[in-house]
Amino acid sequence: MASTQQSFLTGSLFIIIFISSSRCHAHAVPRVTFPLESPGRPFTVFTLPGVYNATTLLLSDDEETLFVGARDAVLSLNITNAGHLQLSKKIDWSPTNEELGACGMKGTPEMDCPNFVRVLQVLNSTHMFACGTFAFSPRCSFIDSEEFTLLVNPSGKPEEGRGRCPYNPYHKNTAITVGGELYTATVADYRGNRPVISRHLSEGDRVDMKLDDTPGWLEDPTFISSTYIPSEEKVYFFFSEMGREYDFVDKFTVSRIAQVCTSDVGGQRTLQRRWTTFAKAQLLCQAKGELPYNVLQDMTTLQSAEGASKEDTLFYGIFSSQWSVNSGRSAVCVFSLREVKTVFSGNYKVLNRDTLKWSRRTGEHEKIANPGECGLHNATDNVLRFVKENFLADKNVAPANQGLALVSPEQRYSNIAAQRVKGANGKEYTVLYLLTESGYLHKAVLLKDGAHIIEEIQVLKQPHQVKNLLLSASKGTVFVGSSEGVASVPVSSCSHYWSCAECVLARDPFCAWDFTQRVCAHVSSIKHQPVQDVDGGNALNVCKTFTTLLPRGRSLLPGTPSVQVPVFLKEVVRLHCPVSSRLASLHWERHRGELSPNIYIQEDGILSFLATPTTLGSYECQATENGFTQTLAVYEVRQKQDSTHQPSATPTTLSPENGRQATSPPTKPETTPGPKDEKPMTQKSTTSTATSTVIPSSVHVPEDGSTNMFQRESSTSYLKELVAVSVLLVICICALLMVAAYNLRKSYRSRTVPHLPSSHQDTEGGTEQEREALRENSPQPDKHHGQKSPNTPSNGVSNGSNGHLPNIPI
Ligand SMILES: *[C@@H]1O[C@H](CO)[C@@H](O)[C@H](O)[C@H]1NC(C)=O
Ligand SMILES: *[C@@H]1O[C@H](CO)[C@@H](O)[C@H](O)[C@H]1NC(C)=O
Ligand SMILES: *[C@@H]1O[C@H](CO)[C@@H](O)[C@H](O)[C@H]1NC(C)=O
Ligand SMILES: *[C@@H]1O[C@H](CO)[C@@H](O)[C@H](O)[C@H]1NC(C)=O
Repeated sequence: MASTQQSFLTGSLFIIIFISSSRCHAHAVPRVTFPLESPGRPFTVFTLPGVYNATTLLLSDDEETLFVGARDAVLSLNITNAGHLQLSKKIDWSPTNEELGACGMKGTPEMDCPNFVRVLQVLNSTHMFACGTFAFSPRCSFIDSEEFTLLVNPSGKPEEGRGRCPYNPYHKNTAITVGGELYTATVADYRGNRPVISRHLSEGDRVDMKLDDTPGWLEDPTFISSTYIPSEEKVYFFFSEMGREYDFVDKFTVSRIAQVCTSDVGGQRTLQRRWTTFAKAQLLCQAKGELPYNVLQDMTTLQSAEGASKEDTLFYGIFSSQWSVNSGRSAVCVFSLREVKTVFSGNYKVLNRDTLKWSRRTGEHEKIANPGECGLHNATDNVLRFVKENFLADKNVAPANQGLALVSPEQRYSNIAAQRVKGANGKEYTVLYLLTESGYLHKAVLLKDGAHIIEEIQVLKQPHQVKNLLLSASKGTVFVGSSEGVASVPVSSCSHYWSCAECVLARDPFCAWDFTQRVCAHVSSIKHQPVQDVDGGNALNVCKTFTTLLPRGRSLLPGTPSVQVPVFLKEVVRLHCPVSSRLASLHWERHRGELSPNIYIQEDGILSFLATPTTLGSYECQATENGFTQTLAVYEVRQKQDSTHQPSATPTTLSPENGRQATSPPTKPETTPGPKDEKPMTQKSTTSTATSTVIPSSVHVPEDGSTNMFQRESSTSYLKELVAVSVLLVICICALLMVAAYNLRKSYRSRTVPHLPSSHQDTEGGTEQEREALRENSPQPDKHHGQKSPNTPSNGVSNGSNGHLPNIPI
């Protein structure tokens, strides 16, 4: 029986692998990116001299205090004002020099020997409990909450840390307190080979509990997190481990949810002081026909909505994949408590003690108990022996929506927090906060048609292996703990959106347009009719009444003041479009017409062309997002007179919203067309290209040729021979042109791919300069600075993300 099941599984796995290798996912892209220190998305970072690795975070019940477990220290921060974290108290807690020496003797790197505080819990109104790795000899201590000091045991002996806290600060663990008792999952030895799930600090007729040493309970697990569900009186643990039930694949990792009942006190003879209620099941995060995202990275619990059944409690997890197809990405899957309960109350697999192989229960195995059920302390030995061998649920826990809630864009997530947010329409939206491995915070809202990543905020200067994320819903703040300190990031920054359209297109459930104040603001602060459309993001509809819209969904055209761009003929002109969203498609227009790709090059929102008498005139940059088109910039390219040019302020009627918007585009453009600006180096190179005329002349000829061809084709009455000859000629010219255009394009491409080192070389090498003349405002170094300038709030978007997200078009 077992073998047929195995071969079936093997077969299906191969099919899965086969199918998935040819698949490709569409990923959500963050709409807006805020690089570090963007003025559009400010946040604060708490640091304290000498305090590092602030990676264990805990909120007090009233959410007025943030406790931080760091290296050799425990901190208590006053977060009454979340924008300004204040140190209230600090505990120093480090090993002695002898202990550090002994740690080093074991061959441990010195920097891993300090005391990394990895368990920090509030036990009751007067006491807290903390454990740290303490020079690879884990130790715990009670903390007097009032004084915020370590308490010394009456015996003088330190509290045992083994089995509660890992030895190695890079080993993962989890801990949770229920009713003054501490539930932990960690490895209990130096090398991390002895995993334990246990209960400590039990008193009275309650006893400390742990897992029996029977093989198969845990298979080389990595513990991720734990949660207590009061309605079930159960603690759930989340981890990944070897999936021994799939023994045909070497080292196949599976993700698990395990449970124990808080009422468990062990058996009377069998399973004394051992869990009688331990059960585990596989969490399957997988899209149809694809390889599973099988390695759990983080898990958070989202309480059911007010008034809803407790069974609607949801678990949001980040999963990565063991296979290289998906190695650079993560998926988010959501599981419901209802489904978890169903799986745990169903059948269990049977472990053959001799072969250590799992099989499905069949008629020959009698079911004499319900594993996973609470209240087995009075059970017979027979029953206890049964539950001892039946702890792996037969069915997998499938995602609540039968698929992936979100797939990260080309990067992996490490930490997650979730929240329900009430939109302007009173509807509740699920908002996820996801920390990427590279140190960016993504805020995503889950919608019917998939996840929408509202924004991406760089919160860490560099990637860190160990970091933490904690949401305080009442403070409206996300805390990110790392070696860089504790960042306190507000959940929203509505004022960044300068127009009704931008505010609505953002689809941020926290933000709505206040048409009386003409600002984008937090929903709760708007008295009358907040304008918002999280589900549709349909700016066209909901902003209509407040904006003058032109046909085709255009808006703001009359109000956008044009920027004067004085140029010399034959000069390369480069116009920047101030990008506001990476979901918008940009395009340039002139007199409402399309621009010929033979003369104009459009790339990354930059329009480049050669100034000739015919290319002088006005240009508009349009952004279309979600069916809504707006003009982001208008440029007036005119021939430079000898006298210095004054940018004339075109007196146009500003519509209310774009008055603010208008401030952003002009600042950018004025610097952009400037080959004549402050940079002597680049200026030289431009003029030289302009005179060398390699690009311009070749570009110009083809245009005429092609138009001629079309004209002749339409008037068929002429001599066929003549037509044929000219067609041939044209084809020849076209071919030549295409070669030229291809070369030109190639040089453009190499420019846009962020190769910083090579661009440095360019500044030195004089030979390359001519060909690279068109590069001189290349998107790298100065654009980064440009974003940070406070006048360009809308620019943070496309630019900063270049280096960060490899999937944007190049
Ligand atoms: C936190 O700081 C505020 C002032 O910012 C103060 O009023 C409050 O008492 C402090 N809370 C604690 C617990 O120290
Ligand atoms: C809190 O827990 C500590 C340690 O278990 C215990 O000594 C103390 O009595 C408890 N305090 C209260 C108020 O329950
Ligand atoms: C502690 O912080 C340092 C940087 O300050 C980092 O290199 C190290 O990996 C961190 N250690 C742990 C265990 O987080
Ligand atoms: C069940 O066990 C408790 C102690 O855990 C004991 O007090 C009680 O009498 C037992 N009940 C039965 C029916 O054996």
